[in-house]
Order: sequence, then C-alpha cells, then structure tokens
Amino acid sequence: MSDKVTLDYNGKKFEFPVIEGTEKEVAIDIKTLRSTTGLTTLDPGYKNTGSCESAITFLDGEKGILRYRGYAIEELAEKADFLEVAYLLIFGELPNKEQLAKFHRDIREESHIDEEMKKILDGFPKSAHPMGVISSLTSALIAFNPSTVDVSSEKDMYHAIVRIMAKFPVLVAWTLRKKKGLPLDYGDDTLGYVENIHKMMFKKPNQTYKKNSVVIEALDKLLILHADHEQNCSTSTVRIVGSSHAGLFASLSAGISALWGPLHGGANQAVLEMLEAIEADGGDTKKYMAKAKDKEDPFRLMGFGHRVYKNFDPRAKIIKKAADEVLSDLGVEDAILDIAKGLEKEALEDEYFVKRKLYPNVDFYSGIIYRALGIPTEMFTVMFALGRLPGWIAQWREMRLRGEPIGRPRQVYIGENLRPFVNVDLR
Ligand code: CMC
Repeated sequence: MSDKVTLDYNGKKFEFPVIEGTEKEVAIDIKTLRSTTGLTTLDPGYKNTGSCESAITFLDGEKGILRYRGYAIEELAEKADFLEVAYLLIFGELPNKEQLAKFHRDIREESHIDEEMKKILDGFPKSAHPMGVISSLTSALIAFNPSTVDVSSEKDMYHAIVRIMAKFPVLVAWTLRKKKGLPLDYGDDTLGYVENIHKMMFKKPNQTYKKNSVVIEALDKLLILHADHEQNCSTSTVRIVGSSHAGLFASLSAGISALWGPLHGGANQAVLEMLEAIEADGGDTKKYMAKAKDKEDPFRLMGFGHRVYKNFDPRAKIIKKAADEVLSDLGVEDAILDIAKGLEKEALEDEYFVKRKLYPNVDFYSGIIYRALGIPTEMFTVMFALGRLPGWIAQWREMRLRGEPIGRPRQVYIGENLRPFVNVDLR
C-alpha cells in the first residue's frame, strides 16, 4: 500500500499522507490541502469525509460488522448488560466488579432532579412530542447543575458523566408519565439500572412494582444495540456542539434534536406508523413496495436502507430474533409483525432494493418490541436516545480529551458576486 497520494493541480504536484486505521481503513490526510494548494473539498452529507480519528466504535458496512471498543455487538448483546456496555464505551474497557458497582452506586447517588424542573415539565402541553420535551429538559438541567466540566480533571469529568447517566433516565420516565397522566415518580435504589428505568416509567401509584425478566432483558438488549454507532448525524452533532466547548448537557440536548428526524432515530416511530397505515389499508404490502420504488412518490420504506450498511445491519438481525422471542414470551400476537416480515421478504427479493443494497436497519423491528413492552409510539425515539446516551458521552469525552479543534466546515459559495446596494425606492 502506498503511504501517500499525489495531487496534480495547475501544473504542480502535491503529496498528501495516507493514514491507516487499526482495521486497515485508509484515508487521505488533507489537513494541509488548503494551505498548500488553495483548494477545499466538497462532500455534501460527508459521504466520503472522516471528521475525526476515534477508538470507540468500528463498523464495516459492507461486511455488516459492528464492534464497541473491539467487542462484537452480537457478543455484547448476549453476555453484557447495558451499564457494563455504557462503562465500556465511555471509559474504554469493560469494568471489573468493583468498578461496575462503584459506577452504579455513584449513579444512584445522583438519581434525583431539582423539584423546580417539574415546573418546566408542567409548562409543556400533554400533546407535546416527547423528543422536544426531553431535549428541552436536558438543556434545562444546566440551570440546576451549572458548573462547567473541567475536562483536564478526571474527577470532574467522571462526576458530569455520572450525573447525566443518573438524571437522564428520570427525565425519560417523567416525559412518559406526563404523557400518560401518571404522577412523577423516582426510582428504587435496590433495582438494577435498566430495571429501575422500567419501574420509573411504568409503576402505577397504587401498585407494587413487579419485575418481568423477559421485559427487562429485551429492554437491556435494545439499549445495548443503540448505544453507539460512530459518526452518525446525532453523534456528529454532539461532537460539533461540544467542539465549541459548550458543556456536556448542552451538547447532548443538541444531539437529541438531531436524533429526532425521521431519517435518523425518528425512523423507529415512522416505521411503526407506516406498518399501522399498511394494516389499516388492508395489509397490501405490494402497494407500498410500489410506492417506495416510485420516484414521483415521496414515500420511502421506513426502516430500510442505511448510509453505511450496504449489507444486513447486524443490529437488525439481533432485534428481529428478539422481537420474535419477546412477543412469544409475552404471549402477544401482533399482525404488525407479520406485515413487517412480509415487507422484509419482498424487499430482499426485489431488484430495486437489491441493486441499491437496501436492507432492514436497526429501526425496522425495534418499534414492534417497544410496542409489545407497552411503550407509546411517540416515545420510541426517546428510548433510542436513552440507549445512545453513553455513546454520545463517550464521543464527547474523546473529542475533548483529544483536544479536537472547533468543527467548522468550509463551503463553495455559489451566490451573487459583489454588487452595488440599491435604495428601496429604486427596487
Ligand atoms: N425506500 C426506498 N428507497 C430508498 C430507501 C428507502 N427506505 N432508502 C434509500 N432509497 C433509495 C434512494 O431513493 C436512492 O435511490 P436512487 O439511487 O435511485 O436515487 C438510493 O436508495 C440511495 O439512497 P440515499 O438516500 O442516497 O442514501 P443515503 O445514504 O443518503 O440515505 C437513509 C440513507 C437511511 C437516510 C435512507 O436509506 C432512508 O431514508 N431510509 C429510510 C429512513 C430510515 O429507516 N432511517 C433509519 C436509519 S438507521 C438508524 C439511524 O441511523 O438512526
């Protein structure tokens, strides 16, 4: 492999180093491009542009590989729990028993929210979309936890991480409880991290919380599968906001807004609404396949396709299996699952989808599980955010520790050239 590329421009030759990642990914290092040649690059949607070097998540979209810190997603989903995975992503190694116990203890210690935050939540109408609510509440936390994080202090950094890992699930639960008209509640220190989240979300005021292992395991798995996905839209948002040295909570709040869109995390809500619409329309999947392929029709098969995966999304494989298991364990029969399977089968055999390498992504089956767990459709993307939280934190921490410069892309200006101002009465 050559370790440099040569650019021939305006009769001059310029050399740029080729760098290689630990998984043999190669990239041209163009840090000196503009200063040596006067050129910039144009790459809308950053389809070819690496924004950083990162040691957190590796994915190979052609081979359908996803690893967190070197561990295969399949193995983590089967053997680890969400809190272990969160620790792994953020701090780089799987925790030993003491480290995990301390992490959990420190989180429990911070699992309370200033009572005044309830007034902010109160200000939202019940009809507000939970993603707007959770993004605002995350930002509002800054008013009650105002100290900035000193990134040179490991202690400060750890404290900020623990605080948000503790408080975010409470806000998620409160967002759901507000929607359902349930009184705001706190967790229970004796429960596991995910079990506690489930309790905070669903415990009725007049009932004792009963653990359902099938539900907790499914939730745990879904959170692990969503925990990180390298430089996607919301993660890049968190990094770019953080690169201005905005605080962790502000950066996370921006990431939540980025996740909301239907082309990103909002797809899980969009998938379920699409499946429900197909069911209400008589279950004719062929009609919707035709719509998805029709370039005059804006309809897209939600939950299909991915910017990076040009093969099966490994998370989708795990989730599909989990959806089958959860529905059968809970004794839920859901016609929507059959429609999803039918659509998947047709798409995988259809030339349009095959040619464009469009496979089911993580969001195609996750909504079916969330629905079986009793989570309202509008909360699906909030659940995605809950899972992605450690990934965002890990990426923000890495970006700050590496001292990355402020994110500030260039552009190619295509507007008017200089022209004289014309007074309003002459226009
Ligand atoms: N249904 C129908 N056609 C599609 C779809 C789809 N879901 N996805 C892509 N295409 C077509 C697209 O029209 C284009 O066709 P052509 O080459 O003829 O113009 C081709 O496939 C390439 O698509 P693209 O939009 O250029 O690809 P992209 O990398 O910019 O977009 C995507 C990726 C995920 C935004 C897109 O596949 C999509 O909109 N999918 C549906 C939304 C979805 O499920 N999003 C969740 C992504 S996974 C979770 C996450 O990241 O948050």
